[in-house]
Amino acid sequence: MTKVLMVCLGNICRSPLAHGILESKLDSDFFYVDSAGTAAYHIGESPDPRSIEVAKQNGIDISGQSARQFKVEDFDTFDRIYAMDQSNYNNIIRLARNNADIGKVKLILEETNSVSNKNVPDPYYGDFSNFEHVFRLLDDACEVVSKTL
Ligand code: 4NP
Repeated sequence: MTKVLMVCLGNICRSPLAHGILESKLDSDFFYVDSAGTAAYHIGESPDPRSIEVAKQNGIDISGQSARQFKVEDFDTFDRIYAMDQSNYNNIIRLARNNADIGKVKLILEETNSVSNKNVPDPYYGDFSNFEHVFRLLDDACEVVSKTL
């Protein structure tokens, strides 16, 4: 079983989408996908209604997800840990215990050549079009990720 963790700040906007999108592209018999936030603000909450809606419009149901905080044990559980932006990456790396931990962490948009800005923009204070943009970025990146696992 290959295990992939998607990480953003709150685990309610970007990483739940990345989680749902990648999961939809993989066989659950062989792959496990999860998501987490580096902050504790939204623990136990469902994804943002706008993330739920944009996923639904694309045939993916993320409404059953529940936000949790990234923990150091995630370095043991997961084979790959994808950060949505540089700030999330830095927060994860701060908790790394060794080079093996550090080696598991990557910016998700580093997987695709189609964009030069490697940060998935935080849509939390934006409108629905920002969530649609995030969906497209993550769908493109997850398509590449699904072929490299
Ligand atoms: P996310 O977006 O990191 O993509 O889940 C955010 C959600 C909540 C907050 C910030 C970003 N917040 O400040 O509460």
